[in-house]
Amino acid sequence: MKQISQPSAFGRVAVLMGGSSSEREVSLNSGANVLEALRAKGVDAQPVDGIPALVEALIAKKFDRVFNILHGNKGGGEDGVLQGLLEALNVPCTGSGVLGTALAMDKIRTKQVWMTLGLPTPKYMRLAPGDDVHTAARSLGLPVIVKPACEGSSVGVSRVFNDADLEAAVELAARYPGELLMEQMIVGEELTVGILGEESLPSIRIVPAGEYYDYHAKYIAEDTQYLCPGLDGDAESEVRRLALAAFHAVGCSGWSRVDVMRDRAGKFFLLEVNTAPGMTSHSLVPKAAREVGIDFETLCWRILETSFKETGKP
Ligand SMILES: Nc1ncnc2c1ncn2[C@@H]1O[C@H](COP(=O)(O)OP(=O)(O)O)[C@@H](O)[C@H]1O
Ligand SMILES: [Mg+2]
Repeated sequence: MKQISQPSAFGRVAVLMGGSSSEREVSLNSGANVLEALRAKGVDAQPVDGIPALVEALIAKKFDRVFNILHGNKGGGEDGVLQGLLEALNVPCTGSGVLGTALAMDKIRTKQVWMTLGLPTPKYMRLAPGDDVHTAARSLGLPVIVKPACEGSSVGVSRVFNDADLEAAVELAARYPGELLMEQMIVGEELTVGILGEESLPSIRIVPAGEYYDYHAKYIAEDTQYLCPGLDGDAESEVRRLALAAFHAVGCSGWSRVDVMRDRAGKFFLLEVNTAPGMTSHSLVPKAAREVGIDFETLCWRILETSFKETGKP
């Protein structure tokens, strides 16, 4: 990973935020924090709201690189579309490239890659329109989770304990674009592991006061507990190793956050990779970074360094 010592080496930086995905508000919040941090470090950074505005600014040669803090798909900047555009224009950007972002955005295909490599992830069924949800639930065994394949922030996610609630869960998830999946519900602990450069940060164990880690617990509630490091001894080393392997498996680079469940027997199950994770005051990568002495401003600087791609590598 290239290390930069002078802010001028970054040139003029667009902090790309907002956009048109369901996670617009979260992204604006993350973006404002990143912008403030980069400016405090002396970086020449400007906010840009959404991909169309960025394109205009790039055509006018206003920026040298992009700090991408858009969240989500469909104009959300986390699905390969932005990455392809910037690659074609030869404008460097933070985080993963086309392959990593596109693949990580799709929970079904991410799981297929992990399963091929023997990485653990909950059993699942893809739900196509017209599929019998009861048959799918029977084959996985209740309880199950129903979720859209390409959303984030727990949007459209339901926990289903009874057969009678399956249809409503599918209806909710189907409001979002793309495919749906049903997953075996893992009952136990929820963990998340930040990745920065080529290393995993200490895990965070999320203990929501309510039933689970839904949108409310993620962004609004003040009573969700975050324990860092989330585990100790071998279990902590294992979850960090697993998260890094999961990140590399889907072709990610730069930085990310990997969501993991751990069942009561202590077995880990990978849920997803977030290639532009939140940077709000509730966000988890900043918490994990702080645990190893990396403050928020330095974290933003380090993420910006990931826009310098190493050359000569396959
Ligand atoms: N298979 C599962 N077992 C248990 N809980 C799950 C499972 N899948 C998702 N969840 C819960 O739903 C939340 C959101 O799911 P996730 O797959 O991380 O999607 P996203 O964060 O992109 O909305 C997780 O943080 C977790 O609390
Ligand atoms: Mg998640």
